[in-house]
Amino acid sequence: MSRIAYVNGRYVPHADGAVHIEDRGYQFADGVYEVFAVHDGKLVGEQGHLDRLEHSLRELQIEPPMGRGPLMVVVREIVRRNHVRHGLVYLQVTRGVARRDHPFPADTISSLVLTARKAPPIDKSVLTRGVEVVTIPDIRWKRKDIKSISLLPNCLGKQTAKESGAFEAWMIDDDGFITEGTSTNAWIVTKDGELLTRNVGYAILNGITRLTLLEAAEEASVRFSERAFTLEEALNAKEAFITSSTSHVKAVTAIDGTPIGNGEAGELTCKLLDLYVDFVETRGGPQNTDRWN
Ligand code: PDD
Repeated sequence: MSRIAYVNGRYVPHADGAVHIEDRGYQFADGVYEVFAVHDGKLVGEQGHLDRLEHSLRELQIEPPMGRGPLMVVVREIVRRNHVRHGLVYLQVTRGVARRDHPFPADTISSLVLTARKAPPIDKSVLTRGVEVVTIPDIRWKRKDIKSISLLPNCLGKQTAKESGAFEAWMIDDDGFITEGTSTNAWIVTKDGELLTRNVGYAILNGITRLTLLEAAEEASVRFSERAFTLEEALNAKEAFITSSTSHVKAVTAIDGTPIGNGEAGELTCKLLDLYVDFVETRGGPQNTDRWN
């Protein structure tokens, strides 16, 4: 079945989807994006993604391409046209097409592109198999709360991970604290059972999966703290895992070659994965999405 993309007002065969060579996204990475998970035909954390998209657009003074209602019609239509029951939607907004010049052009129309693709359904046995992460310096800009399409440091980091035989790279800030993964949020469970993930601010992207899991944990009375933790704390942790719309809740069993805990997915990690899936299936995503930095 052929894939369909949405490009500036038109549904086109994926292979024919194209934007102008002077789109500012192409020339300056002047744009933002969202990745929605689709679980059992439904979008996960729809409101959260829309709220975060609006935050990113506002911070960069990019005009929303359309209102929330019409945008969601397009998002649902791209899911429908691509027959996605489990998978993801990629949505990108850029400042539009203009002669190459650094300041914001006057009167451009924001570009909007969407694609959707199928992915295997959530498989707990795969997610709890465990992956390795490596650590790298965080060389990104200072506004990681904005979901910018400028992802070169993230791509370099993921390539480093790949070349090291790892799944993800956790980035370390100038003060020695872990910020997040190149496309995931980072979590640990300390030896005394405390669940930790970095507090929001400019240093991380506030993940929709992160928010969903925090709400699910709260509801189940699982104790957690949102604070920065060091590499040393991570290496001494009992458990570690990552979250994102594409990795869901995925166990981390080694960091920089050092096994975490007993080198297998931790007990709390497995419980949190169960809670996450239940929460998504019953609630659809986080209910409280008003803080992006
Ligand atoms: N990445 N941190 C970073 C740097 C990310 O790029 C992402 C998402 C996350 C997790 O956010 P969420 O839970 O909303 O997916 C955290 C997407 C999936 C990507 O770039 O493909």
